[in-house]
Amino acid sequence: MGAFKGSELLSALLITVSPPTRMSSSLFGNPLLQFAELDSTNKTAAELLARGEARHGTAIVAHAQRHGVGQRGRTWTMAPALDLALSIVTEPHGLRADAQFALSKAAALAVHDTVRDHVSGDVRIKWPNDVLVGRHKVAGILIRNELSGDRVAASIIGIGLNVNNTDLDPALVATSLALETGRALDRMAVLHELLERFGQWWRRWEATGDAALEAYAERLWMRNRWAAMELDGALVQARAMDVDSLGRLIVEVEGGTVAAYGLDRLRFAPR
Ligand code: BTN
Repeated sequence: MGAFKGSELLSALLITVSPPTRMSSSLFGNPLLQFAELDSTNKTAAELLARGEARHGTAIVAHAQRHGVGQRGRTWTMAPALDLALSIVTEPHGLRADAQFALSKAAALAVHDTVRDHVSGDVRIKWPNDVLVGRHKVAGILIRNELSGDRVAASIIGIGLNVNNTDLDPALVATSLALETGRALDRMAVLHELLERFGQWWRRWEATGDAALEAYAERLWMRNRWAAMELDGALVQARAMDVDSLGRLIVEVEGGTVAAYGLDRLRFAPR
């Protein structure tokens, strides 16, 4: 398996490495490490990064995940060999820790593009970085940033995308690309499209800075519409207006107050 020196266990589970190539125009997935099964691609990415065996551009894909991790410590379940679970390693040189939400925006925009390329329904980004078709979740993103002082040294961008699973628990209010399109998709083609899309947003962001990611706010779910939210544990009606540079949602709360809140204080009320 070429230069991959991972642990014996990881090597045993590794099925292919598409080696880095100078010819490839793809920034991400270069190399692409494919595993039959892992606990979590985010966990493996962190381990490889710590050992110096992953670098900017490396992407890790698992065809099954035993202990996928979701936001707020929840479990992320994928249908083996039907859905996508991947982690992209980035080293955003010089990115200030207080500007790290740019990574969430780029990832959410790339997933949004990919879903929208296949689906005719209304595709939106639910703050901070879920992707919905209508009101059903099709993808979730979990980002782990490694800080060095006031800078982001490395970031692991974990993406779970429901591709060909058509047997989703109704309680999850979820969907998949196959359910939306009525046909099975080529999962690996979707993966390459997603990596390509992420590379495009990355290049735009590198070239022109945060202004390149303004589309994020335009694609927000429930933007300028009243929605039930929980603010400091209390149910309120609020209207999402924008996102500030720290990634906090700027909302107008019933009664007229306009303020920015982070996930520690505000979330959409569970559906
Ligand atoms: C969410 O809760 O919406 C975020 C889900 C993120 C799941 C992905 S699957 C690939 C990567 N590995 C993990 O363990 N989690 C992320």
